[in-house]
Amino acid sequence: MSNLLSSYPAFHRHSIDQAQDFWKNEASRIDWHRPFDQVVDESRLPFVKWFVGGQTNLCYNAVDRHLKDRAHQDALIYISTETNQNHTYSYTELHREVNRCAAVFQQLGVVKGDRILIYMPMVPQAVFAMLACVRLGAIHSVVFGGFAAQSLATRIDDAKPKLIFTADAGLRAGKAILYKGLVDEAIRLANFPPEKVILLDRGIDPHLSWVKGRDLNYETLRENNLDAEIPVQWLESSDPSYILYTSGTTGKPKGVQRDTGGYAVALAASMEYIYCAKPGQTMFTTSDIGWVVGHSYIVYGPLIHGMSTILYEGLPIRPDPGIWWKIVEQYKVSVMFSSPTAIRVLKRQEAHYLHSSDVSSLQGLYLAGEPLDEPTARWISEALKVPVYDHYWQTETGWAILSNVPGVETSPLKWGSPGFAAYGFNVKLLDELTGAEVGAHQKGVVTLLPPLPPGCLTTVWGQDQRFIDTYFTSFKHTQVYTTFDWAIRDEQGYYFILGRSDDVINVAGHRLGTREIEEAVSSHDQVAEVAVVGVSHEIKGQVPLAFVVVKDASVLQDSLRRQGLYKEVLEAVNKSLGPVGRPEQIHFVSMLPKTRSGKILRRSIKALAQGEDPGDLTTLEDMLAIEEIRRAVTKP
Ligand code: PRX
Repeated sequence: MSNLLSSYPAFHRHSIDQAQDFWKNEASRIDWHRPFDQVVDESRLPFVKWFVGGQTNLCYNAVDRHLKDRAHQDALIYISTETNQNHTYSYTELHREVNRCAAVFQQLGVVKGDRILIYMPMVPQAVFAMLACVRLGAIHSVVFGGFAAQSLATRIDDAKPKLIFTADAGLRAGKAILYKGLVDEAIRLANFPPEKVILLDRGIDPHLSWVKGRDLNYETLRENNLDAEIPVQWLESSDPSYILYTSGTTGKPKGVQRDTGGYAVALAASMEYIYCAKPGQTMFTTSDIGWVVGHSYIVYGPLIHGMSTILYEGLPIRPDPGIWWKIVEQYKVSVMFSSPTAIRVLKRQEAHYLHSSDVSSLQGLYLAGEPLDEPTARWISEALKVPVYDHYWQTETGWAILSNVPGVETSPLKWGSPGFAAYGFNVKLLDELTGAEVGAHQKGVVTLLPPLPPGCLTTVWGQDQRFIDTYFTSFKHTQVYTTFDWAIRDEQGYYFILGRSDDVINVAGHRLGTREIEEAVSSHDQVAEVAVVGVSHEIKGQVPLAFVVVKDASVLQDSLRRQGLYKEVLEAVNKSLGPVGRPEQIHFVSMLPKTRSGKILRRSIKALAQGEDPGDLTTLEDMLAIEEIRRAVTKP
């Protein structure tokens, strides 16, 4: 191993071999109402409890404790290029707004353990609501605005929220997305509708309709609580803070459940070790609060660390492709976190946009969520002249599994690699079939030896058995957490991610299950069968393609009816899953290639769609099906 790495590996080793000692030290980064008496309880693996006996609160650590030294420092900087509004909240003002929002929730009967579903565009009230929930010990479940009514209904039925907090609408490139209408529809579809809907009327939807007795105006409720001071609810460290739904191989998303104390400690440590951020500096994370990156690095991480955090509503290329760099200049952003897709979008624009702003405040750009290709990484590194760190993690882990750790030691960056195992993560690459650890440069599945470090999911909401079955049963002889990603590792411990081993695809950094998209396509009553595969895409990394068998094949003979059906199927996906899952293309075929036991050969379909060899076809039932796919994807 190179000398350059000799110090970080020791740090990492310590975090694994003396995990208790390591995390006990890290725990002092946050404020505890009552100190913990046990660092970790691993008596029920794979379930883990960090900081047992300790009591704390995420909102207290993100807001209240900074009032002493940072009362007038910017806490939340809201910038909307959609509405052309900017508003900055100091820690004092953030505290005020969070208290008002918490008072509103409390008035509506919310108590510790209740769920509140937040379905909001990128507005400050969404952040107030998240913090207000954790202040009260209520559990938030933020749902990304790109999901439509049926997806929302599935999440409502799983989380059974007492309230939904939503807005009349969001804006994307000036086009309104009517959130409230989607919520109404979702509630109609749900079996466990919430008692109340709190509505933030942004004045975007002129036809906004209110359901009497159910829908309440947030502004009015807030005004009745302007001076409210709501005491922090002290929580056990292992009490849940939030649920965040994520996709897997089944059509039914899993509610990733996060604890309180472990998450706070993990984020606090990452701010220094991974992001090299200092309290008082500004962080700009371009994600959405509906995703894990938004939870960890727009809201909780930077605020726990006493930073100013930017909440940006808008696109990276509007009003022009220089907007992000102007923000960096204006707010002296030190740390930026974005996605490879966003950078690829910017790379297509004129270079002068990047060079017309002074970005010298920036110390580092962090990218995650999907593979970062070398040309994109090189381009942005050379343009910004700061280190560009690829790092790899999952909704489940809440923070980076693989990363460079420059806050501990500066290590060389390698193109195409998200770095090495982050402290706390005991990463092993295992052979998919034998479960044996593979050697350098050999392909294996990225797995984590329990206990998972602080910050990771503690279970699947309401489904402990599913937590075990999904993540810990891939290998017969060892109980390890599987990420479902393949990777190789070089002699120096750098990993290279090769892609998912399951049916999950990654569209512009958004994780989607092909099954979910298939279910959405099938919601059209003409669809008899469908297979969805993810194929490579220059900008978005991957895009979904749908291969559809229709019930009445005669529809396809008539080009007008065929086009009509094409549009209807897309609309069905829009309505059921949302634009986030929209297939890039739909191919109508007369049959799907299947094995003799009836399993759809998705891997072969995917290979053909990418112009590759379809692989082993010995189990194929009917060769004609493969030929049809080949013709469909090669048609001009
Ligand atoms: O397949 C990996 C890919 O995204 C998945 C996790 O997505 P999500 O739960 O949305 O969490 C994103 C948190 C950043 C992973 O299983 N992935 C994530 N980061 C990378 C990546 N693939 C390659 N390189 C990365 N840096």
